[in-house]
Amino acid sequence: MRDETITVVGLGRIGAPMLACFAACGYHVIGLDLDEGRLDLIREGRAPVPEPELEDLLRSNRHRITIARDYDAAVRDSGLTFIAVPTPSRSDGAYSLDHVLAACARIGDALRRTSDFHVVVVTSTVLPQDLDTTILPVLEDRSGRRCGRDFGLCYNPEFVAIGKVIRGMVHPDFVLIGESDPRSGDVLERAHRKVAGDRVPVVRTNFVNAELAKIAVNAFVTAKISYANMLGEICERIPGCDVDVVTSAIGLDGRIGSKYLLGGLGYGGPCFPRDNVAFSVMARRRGVEATLADATDAVNRRQVERILERARSLVRPGARVGVLGLAYTPNTDVVEESQGLLLAGAMAEAGFRVMVYDPLGLANARMVLGRTVEYASSAGECIDRSHLVLISTPWEEFKRLEPRRFAHNPRRVVFDCWRILPAEDVGRVADYVTIGKATEPRSVRSAD
Ligand SMILES: NC(=O)c1ccc[n+]([C@@H]2O[C@H](COP(=O)([O-])OP(=O)(O)OC[C@H]3O[C@@H](n4cnc5c(N)ncnc54)[C@H](O)[C@@H]3O)[C@@H](O)[C@H]2O)c1
Repeated sequence: MRDETITVVGLGRIGAPMLACFAACGYHVIGLDLDEGRLDLIREGRAPVPEPELEDLLRSNRHRITIARDYDAAVRDSGLTFIAVPTPSRSDGAYSLDHVLAACARIGDALRRTSDFHVVVVTSTVLPQDLDTTILPVLEDRSGRRCGRDFGLCYNPEFVAIGKVIRGMVHPDFVLIGESDPRSGDVLERAHRKVAGDRVPVVRTNFVNAELAKIAVNAFVTAKISYANMLGEICERIPGCDVDVVTSAIGLDGRIGSKYLLGGLGYGGPCFPRDNVAFSVMARRRGVEATLADATDAVNRRQVERILERARSLVRPGARVGVLGLAYTPNTDVVEESQGLLLAGAMAEAGFRVMVYDPLGLANARMVLGRTVEYASSAGECIDRSHLVLISTPWEEFKRLEPRRFAHNPRRVVFDCWRILPAEDVGRVADYVTIGKATEPRSVRSAD
């Protein structure tokens, strides 16, 4: 029974879907979190964070889910404990391990009181050498036991995107395991194969290779995004150029690939911006200038200013601007570092009268933007009240907007940053503009 039971510590955007996926594969799962509200929701079979499929999985597998407070019982009754608690950025750009170490201290204490072999799995994002130099010593000190002999330790980061977390866990490109010993790696690999199937590639290595590979993936993907955005800027200055045509062509080259290669807005969210900065900090500490990561970050930071400049060329300050999209990506309420949120704030500061709307992110955005903007209760209200409508998150709801919804006299400007609307149809009733394509010079619209 112990081998068929898994504990997950930290039931947020990563931990809750993980718990649900293991339960759906037949594991008994024990969930621990400091947040009583989240525990109550899971107990009731409800999702503690918005994520497609999560609530269905939690509800239909409730009989295999136990919510606990007691680390001793959780560690005693399970063979594996995943730690998926936050590792927020510190002021120097590296990650704080405080939450991970707090969880490890509790797990270490519980390990002291059992003689069974137990595998501790760190899923939270950490930097190279964090497991060896900081996490492992806490577990050994608190448990009084030797890692690799009396208990196992693995680093097992997730490569998932918010809004597609469950899909990402069930169909990962690969599983990465940094392991203290083969026995622990075997236990963890078995658990992943139950979720993702026998054919999923599993890379097993030491801690440092896995730690570096995790942030190297995010640094590479962000470089790709900034590269596509740089191409978009160039396309805007060459008549006849279209970033979609260029990126579709180069994406066919097997050395490049088409994913995350869409000239659009910059990247945001809780992971990409900070992981890229942490990668650079990690390299510099070892005497390596991470020039590529720094350039990626610089390109990303200038996207908001660039879009603001475009808006200024389209409507005058004082005009009403509607920002559709505050979540950093569709299907989530997370607004951290989102381009829509940053743009709304920058536009309000620049003197535009800003109204915002997002299907899920309004409450979180309100905590950041406060009274600097107005909040619409629907996309329609946001459009109706705006001279310029800026689409900053490619939500399905926005893709389905009828072109005639944008009609107005005088004509509105529709600034479709992700090119999700039918350009010709919208262009019949409004001034349709986008990024990544050269556009004819046009007169600036007044605020009236
Ligand atoms: N969100 C992502 O896209 C993503 C992707 C890959 C990796 N990660 C990494 O996964 C980790 C978790 O991220 P998240 O987005 O799920 O965080 P989150 O903030 O959504 O959830 C973390 C949960 O941990 C709980 N918690 C904090 N300290 C605790 C403790 N000592 N004991 C028990 N519970 C505790 C919190 O109450 C919260 O419910 C981070 O290191 C993050 O970098 C996140």
